[in-house]
Amino acid sequence: MLGLESLLQVGNVTLKNRIVMPPMVTDLAAEDGTVTSELISHYEKRAAGGVGLVIIEASIINPEGRITPNQIGIYDGKFVRGLSQLSGVIRHHGAAVMVQLHHAGPKAVGVKSVVSASSVPVIETIPGEMSQALIEKTIEEFVAGAFTAKKAGFQGVELHGAHFYLLNSFLSPLTNKRNDSFGDALENRVRIVKDIILGIKEYCGSEFLVGVRLNGEEPPGGLQPKDTATIAVQLEKSGADLFHISGYNIRLAHGSSTVYLSDFTSSPQKITDKAVFLGPAEIIKSKVKTPVIGVGKLGDYETANTAVSANKVDLVAVGRPLIADASWANKVLGKHDDPIHECTYCNGCRRKRANNKPVSCIVHKYRD
Ligand SMILES: Cc1cc2nc3c(=O)[nH]c(=O)nc-3n(C[C@H](O)[C@H](O)[C@H](O)COP(=O)(O)O)c2cc1C
Repeated sequence: MLGLESLLQVGNVTLKNRIVMPPMVTDLAAEDGTVTSELISHYEKRAAGGVGLVIIEASIINPEGRITPNQIGIYDGKFVRGLSQLSGVIRHHGAAVMVQLHHAGPKAVGVKSVVSASSVPVIETIPGEMSQALIEKTIEEFVAGAFTAKKAGFQGVELHGAHFYLLNSFLSPLTNKRNDSFGDALENRVRIVKDIILGIKEYCGSEFLVGVRLNGEEPPGGLQPKDTATIAVQLEKSGADLFHISGYNIRLAHGSSTVYLSDFTSSPQKITDKAVFLGPAEIIKSKVKTPVIGVGKLGDYETANTAVSANKVDLVAVGRPLIADASWANKVLGKHDDPIHECTYCNGCRRKRANNKPVSCIVHKYRD
């Protein structure tokens, strides 16, 4: 029976196992977005710790899409050198490596103008609606970011289409109120992501992997699993190689006329909650041939292995547990005898990040 230790072929890349390090912003890049030695060391430990695929944290395709001052930049040739060192150390340990391409859209912080598909806030800031010219320019910036990633030795990119950042603001009917060719019908809402995939495949070649992170399920009025499945089917036709099904919970109050959405990780989750987004991921996987990554509270061997062996998903991403213990993968695969530093899902790592402090594990004192 297939389990966490089985190989998986994604395009022309062979993954040595089914464990993925999902993108997690570390705030370890320099203020100008270049890769630092601390950032390299953070990822090297986790690649050496046995994961099959590392997806580097949200990296900005334009500084106007940032969420933190210390976010990795991927919008200029000056970043290639540091990014090449980063991809090199990860591949040296036998892990495959992709990088998440990001524009924060309505959630951008510290930028001149906050933009989105429509003028619908998802945090307190009211974004401006993007013009078609700006949309076309942004599509080119995503493609250019992928080209930079390819030059820097990455095997692919993941488009951040989840968590109500820019691309999600187009996909979701909650935030896309446009009535032009980028809005209204699902075929139009998905157009920006399709065009980015087609552009990347044209400029980087069909073998360069393109993954897409999507919300499996959104609050009422937003994408439901069947809608995300329809989106995935369309993106698969455009050449997507991998889907990564995340999710979103409402945590803040509804204002009188505005729904504010906050990140699912902003409140501590009970350690007993498990596989929180796996249901939608399984529905989406049943509609596509493209491999699907599940994520969200999968950080124990039994839950993660069953997700793969029961064919609910092809790969499992383990986020916070990999911050708590860089060797989590080797330990669950029986290649390392020490006990696992168990993640308590306290979200201390997340709070550090939210305050623009380098990510750390306050329970197991990683980096503290
Ligand atoms: C510190 C931190 C930073 C994160 N940064 C990103 C990011 O850059 N891009 C993204 O798509 N998700 C990000 N996430 C969400 C994770 O990728 C993952 O989906 C989430 O932690 C749930 O998985 P887990 O339960 O295994 O931790 C972040 C999460 C944490 C804790």
